[in-house]
Amino acid sequence: MQSLLVTGGAGFIGSNFVRWVVGQTDARVVVLDKLTYAGRRDTLDGLPGDRVDLVVGDIADAHLVDRLVGAADAVVHFAAESHNDNSLRDPWPFIHTNIVGTFTLLQAARDHSTRFHHVSTDEVYGDLELDDPARFHETTPYNPSSPYSSSKAASDLLVRAWVRSFGVRATLSNCSNNYGPWQHIEKFIPRQITNILSGRRPKLYGAGRNVRDWIHVDDHNAAVWTILERGRLGETYLIGADGEKSNLDVMRAILRLMGQPEDAFDHVADRPGHDLRYAIDSSKLRAELGWTPAYRSFEDGLAATIEWYRGHEEWWRPLKEQVEAGYAQQGQ
Ligand code: NAD
Ligand code: DAU
Repeated sequence: MQSLLVTGGAGFIGSNFVRWVVGQTDARVVVLDKLTYAGRRDTLDGLPGDRVDLVVGDIADAHLVDRLVGAADAVVHFAAESHNDNSLRDPWPFIHTNIVGTFTLLQAARDHSTRFHHVSTDEVYGDLELDDPARFHETTPYNPSSPYSSSKAASDLLVRAWVRSFGVRATLSNCSNNYGPWQHIEKFIPRQITNILSGRRPKLYGAGRNVRDWIHVDDHNAAVWTILERGRLGETYLIGADGEKSNLDVMRAILRLMGQPEDAFDHVADRPGHDLRYAIDSSKLRAELGWTPAYRSFEDGLAATIEWYRGHEEWWRPLKEQVEAGYAQQGQ
């Protein structure tokens, strides 16, 4: 795999993937990113110019996509509209990017017989009860709840259809909630860290009983690379690190690690249709491809993430006012 096209490579997970690839392999990377509100050129700062190129463009631009996919050995497709709360305010960009954009990439992968890896989410499976011992696995029926998760479910189904009908050489992965550096401050963990760093009170939706299954972004990306190299074509792999935690527990951990009283937060309006619990069974990926997460302690990973936001105020501070104004309009 000498030449990769990474869509969404200027966003949170994609930019960490590009760093991971540059550090761990010899591959060259072309990033295709529209630089929406969630994509930033500076997420790629410091990477060697002879290994990484950024092309600013839309994954739904068929002409551009055809040229870039035709020149790559493989496509790793991260680009998406990724935030549930935004999808409740305005679903259209989610349909355009997640569905039409994925369709456009698949057509090009089909025309050029290019290897394709589709990055998706555990949210396509809907949610689980808090007291249910079950976890999601590769054959769990799809049951998405939000405009975001339903658009990702649609994109997964397109990939599966292009494999079966047109022989596209694709794999899919569905991962749980990521945390780590370069995550947009609209998301739960960085929002609370930057609230505290900017003198605001952290905000918990509802009672905070909802459970998410946390994984460090580097563990996700190592799994994506493993699947790209050794995954069986046409297969789906679930990626998770046994990191189930309630939002309330994560909130208290952030406050504790930042030297604040554990009750120094506000309860705010809940998310409409809020999924209760996600939990991943990643035994197929572990048994078949030998992947295991390197981050053993969520608290250590969280502490390092807090330090990263402390050290990168110039990156997030200009966004903070606007992000909080948007939430305030929703009572959040
Ligand atoms: P992000 O919002 O941080 O980044 C998305 C990137 O895609 C941005 O750089 C944005 O500019 C780019 N983009 C958006 N629309 C585009 C378009 N039309 N053309 C080209 N580029 C476009 O998202 P993320 O959290 O890094 O998520 C990356 C992928 O991983 C998504 O597919 C998401 O569904 C999936 N995923 C995310 C998580 C998570 O916890 N964040 C978990 C599982 C799966
Ligand atoms: O499960 C994978 C998914 O994880 C990805 O597919 C999505 O792209 C990613 O955004 C993430 O979705 P969530 O909706 O779970 O993440 P978010 O960070 O928005 O919220 C995490 C939990 O925290 C959720 O239960 C809502 C809650 N929350 C969120 C915010 C922003 C709060 O309690 N307070 C907040 O301020």
